[in-house]
Amino acid sequence: MNEYVIWHKATVTRERREKMNGHRSFVLWFTGLSGSGKSTLAHAVEEQLHQHGCRTFVFDGDNVRHGLCSDLGFGEEDRKENIRRIGEMTKLFVEAGVIAMTAFISPFREERRKVRELFGEGEFVEVYCDCSLETCEERDVKGLYAKARAGLIPNYTGISSPYEAPEDPEILVNTDDEPLEESIEKVMNYLKEHRLVE
Ligand code: ADX
Repeated sequence: MNEYVIWHKATVTRERREKMNGHRSFVLWFTGLSGSGKSTLAHAVEEQLHQHGCRTFVFDGDNVRHGLCSDLGFGEEDRKENIRRIGEMTKLFVEAGVIAMTAFISPFREERRKVRELFGEGEFVEVYCDCSLETCEERDVKGLYAKARAGLIPNYTGISSPYEAPEDPEILVNTDDEPLEESIEKVMNYLKEHRLVE
């Protein structure tokens, strides 16, 4: 970007949009291994919020990689770029007054921290879907763990590429054996306690 790119200030501000919507906008960032239940939980929470009358949108790793990030692979640099783009995208959605929810492995602490920094205090809510590799592999919903073990998929998270678990997430859900309803409740309770939703 050069000095000739000038920011245009909108008159319809985020505050005005939030007021019209009747709720605040923020990010719910789900992170965890593939198969840890990020998408399932994100969509279930979205359902609750939608029923509450909130404007929401879920960005799902696999879906976004079919479009916006279809040029990216799973090497370290590409994963970083993947998360950078999603971070900027969620920022735009939050600016638009939407509760943006993301379900990406987002394996690197540093990249998640950078996204957090795009937002104001309390607006980036990290939800760690803590599930053991054993359980994720056992589920192997997409059959990709078996392929990764067979050496057919390089850089597979948990097998041949690292996952750095959050050290201090806002919300910790144990998707190993915690029933889905309980995880949904944990998220909803957090949002109510922190007055993110009424
Ligand atoms: S991230 O690491 O860049 O955050 P992202 O969430 O977008 O990953 O994509 C993960 C999904 O891509 C997985 O759920 C899986 O279906 C698929 N996938 C394909 N190759 C890999 C790989 N090498 N490692 C992890 N997931 C992969």
